[in-house]
Amino acid sequence: MSNKINLTGRSLLSLDDLADAELLHLLDLSARLKRKKQRHFRGRLLLNKNIALVFEKASTRTRCAAVIAAADEAGVAEYIESGNTHFGKKESIKDSARVLGRMFDGILFRGFKHSTVETLARHSGIPVWNGLTDEDHPTQAMADIMTIREHFGALKGLKVVYIGDGRNNVALSLMTACAKAGINFVDCAPPELNPPEHRVARALEAAGRNGSTIAVSADPGEAVRGANVIYTDVWTSMGEEAMFAERARLLRPYQVNRELVARTGNLENRRVIFLHCLPAFHNNETAVTKDIGALEVTDEVFEAPYSKVFDLAENRMHTIKALMVATLTGKG
Ligand code: CP
Ligand code: NVA
Repeated sequence: MSNKINLTGRSLLSLDDLADAELLHLLDLSARLKRKKQRHFRGRLLLNKNIALVFEKASTRTRCAAVIAAADEAGVAEYIESGNTHFGKKESIKDSARVLGRMFDGILFRGFKHSTVETLARHSGIPVWNGLTDEDHPTQAMADIMTIREHFGALKGLKVVYIGDGRNNVALSLMTACAKAGINFVDCAPPELNPPEHRVARALEAAGRNGSTIAVSADPGEAVRGANVIYTDVWTSMGEEAMFAERARLLRPYQVNRELVARTGNLENRRVIFLHCLPAFHNNETAVTKDIGALEVTDEVFEAPYSKVFDLAENRMHTIKALMVATLTGKG
């Protein structure tokens, strides 16, 4: 089935843009490109492709993943900090989109409003990939699913529990990805931070097609029972810094610690892993956590053998590379 899929010219603003089989096709391609890199092969799949990385927010993984992904296959990635350009200030997003579209072959955008990435896709005339907006983080979710499949060897029938800010970009993209991959998913958050109903409805539709379930829960101990993956993210996303104290108050009972992981019932039989998109607050070594002392995961869990957070970080590169290759060249 994979052979018939051709994603040339396509953008990825949300995982809903992909058919279920297209997502799996990208994961297969990511795995092949990963094996290629492990054998120290450098390729030319992105030769003559120029990629703009337009970032409004900070990034370590997404930016570096894109730069190395392009370089590995002979492409060029140019980092454009939007604050140092006319983007959305002296020039409308629509005009900037048309300019970038005349020079580049693809745009990876990270920023605030989801409508910005939509405008770029509508007017640039080239593939645009969402490298995180306030609503979605689809390239993260591709790496999440790749990492889960690498670890368990399959996807259907697994149980993934996301605990924390259940309405943030990472949670929503993960929910969509799980639904498309036939993974049972629980979004565990206090009611104030539940995912929007329309997103749950869309995920339920996809899960229905793939024989899995989507649930929302406020009870961590109950939610994690039987879980194969416990996933969390920071309690306050970029752009929401003013909410720090309020989030810490709401989410302290949702901290991922060893007791919670043990309640999956899968610790002894090694059928549970911990994932986090990173950056993570797991000790008091960062400037932010020193002040607030609110950690979404304990250091013990973060550093445990069942924590696969750095495998996940690496897979950001393989999945972003697959997305570039598939949408810019149709190869792979
Ligand atoms: N996970 C992730 O998107 O990390 P960065 O913010 O470092 O890109
Ligand atoms: N939810 C986080 C993810 C960072 C990768 C944020 O938006 O800041």
